[in-house]
Order: sequence, then structure tokens, then C-alpha cells
Amino acid sequence: MPNNEPDQYAVFGNPIAHSKSPLLHAAFAKQCGQAMSYRAILADTDKFAETLHAFIAGGARGANVTLPFKLEAYQLCTGLTPRARAAGAVNTLTFEADQILGDNTDGCGLVRDISLNAGVSLSGTRILLLGAGGAARGALMPILECHPSELVIANRSMGKAQELKIEFQNHGPINIGEFSRLEGQFDIVINATSASISDQRPPVAGTIYKTGALAYDMMYASQPTQFMLHASQHQAQSRDGWGMLVEQAAEAFQVWRGVRPNTKEFLIREKLLSL
Ligand code: ATR
Repeated sequence: MPNNEPDQYAVFGNPIAHSKSPLLHAAFAKQCGQAMSYRAILADTDKFAETLHAFIAGGARGANVTLPFKLEAYQLCTGLTPRARAAGAVNTLTFEADQILGDNTDGCGLVRDISLNAGVSLSGTRILLLGAGGAARGALMPILECHPSELVIANRSMGKAQELKIEFQNHGPINIGEFSRLEGQFDIVINATSASISDQRPPVAGTIYKTGALAYDMMYASQPTQFMLHASQHQAQSRDGWGMLVEQAAEAFQVWRGVRPNTKEFLIREKLLSL
């Protein structure tokens, strides 16, 4: 019997009401003429696996996963892409037969937003990555694949920065540093800490920015973050993570549907939010 139901997708998180993913994927589906539905599902923090399996049993084709389930989802996958394995977390799942295939499009989204949307090449540049948690880990391989001249990782707990250096140093020129003792200046500074959530910023000096450097906060908010405000006061151009959000979603859409949406119009957030 033919099934005329649109293919089902969803984003899982807790909380999830704030998620822009349903809006983005609905807009992508319309633009690309794809018959699919995409909703937000709030999973209890101790019931992620059973909520996901119920969704799969209902015939769903794929899902996005956001906080706090990216690590748990990684454990549930029966197969992983190399970039998901390097990130140690997944944000994109594809359901095929009995398999759950895990991917991670966050780092790709970051690099695409910097290189294509902001127009800043990462190749041959000196990059500072602030933070050594999950967000920083996911960004490491995609950044190194762009061949920076040096990537310095700085974190409050130096042990975690050291661990990342050891794990990824065969893939590119990585060094570590302390927030308050960074040497030289950088072309690109990426805030992958969660400091912006609590209206704080990593305590780096304003002198770390080359004139016109890009200061990129992986978080997005309606107002510039403390990190962005500080960078703007020190000759840097600042950018928040809205474009990364759009690009990671577009990459997930391509993984599922085989077509890449044109993201240009969605980079203007007011336009998307008014749809
Ligand atoms: P995420 O998945 O968002 O990366 P995480 O894995 O908990 O979350 O990592 C949070 C990162 O933000 C860590 O690098 C953390 O530093 P520590 O490893 O030293 O804890 C960093 N972080 C959080 N709040 C911060 C603050 N106020 N200033 C500087 N770094 C902060």
C-alpha cells in the first residue's frame, strides 16, 4: 500500500522549546521541495533512549540531537561517521533498517559559516580555540582540515586542553596556552566555552587580536555576548553562532535528503523568525 505520509524527522533535547531547528528544516524542505515533517521532542533526561526508540518504531527517518543528549546518542549508534567519531558526540542520526547511523555536523557548520558566510579563510591563519569541552572537541578536526598555520587551545582547566592536544596533534599544528598568558596575536579566535550562557567571557587580553581579526562566539543570543563586546573593543570583528546553527542544520538536511539548501536567506535571523 503506498504511503503518502511525509518522512518524519525531529530534534530531541531538554529543554527544547527554544529550538530553531523545526523552523529551519521546514524552510529548507519548502525551498528544496522535500516532503518531510520535522518537530521538536522533549525527552525526559533519564528516558532519551526509550523516547528515541519509540520515534524510530513509528517509522521515522532521522533526528537531530541537542543538549544534553549528544553523548548518550553517540553510545546508541550502531555506526558512526569519521567526523562523529572524532567529535565523540553526535547531533545527526539517520535510521536505516535496524541501524542508527550517527554523524556530527556542528564542526562543519562552524567552518562553513566562517569561510563561506563571513568570508574568512582559515588556511594559513593563526587560530585560538577557547575551551576544551564537547563544543571545542567537535570543532577541532574540521578546523585542522582547513590547514591553519597554528591552532592554540586555551582552557581554564589546562589538563583538558592537554588531552585534546595529545589526541589530535597528529592531525595538525596544535599548541596549548593559558587564557592570561597567550603569546602573540591571532587571526581568528573562537569561543567554544559555555561562558556566554552565564553572561561571562574567558579572561583573555584585548591584545590577542590582530587588527580586523575574527572573534567568533559559537553561542548565539539576541544581544552580543561579553566575548563579542570585548573583542569589538579591541579591533576585532565579532560574529555569533547563528550562522553555525543554520549551516549545521543545512548539512544535516543534506545528509538525510541528498540536497543542500541555499542558506543565504536564513542567515538573516529576523527573516527566519518571522516565517
Ligand atoms: P560544551 O558541550 O558546551 O562544550 P562542556 O563540555 O561542559 O560544554 O564544556 C564547557 C567548556 O566551557 C569547558 O571548556 C569549560 O572550562 P573547564 O573545562 O575549565 O570547566 C568552559 N567554561 C565554562 N564556563 C566558563 C567560564 N566562565 N570561563 C571560561 N571557561 C568556561
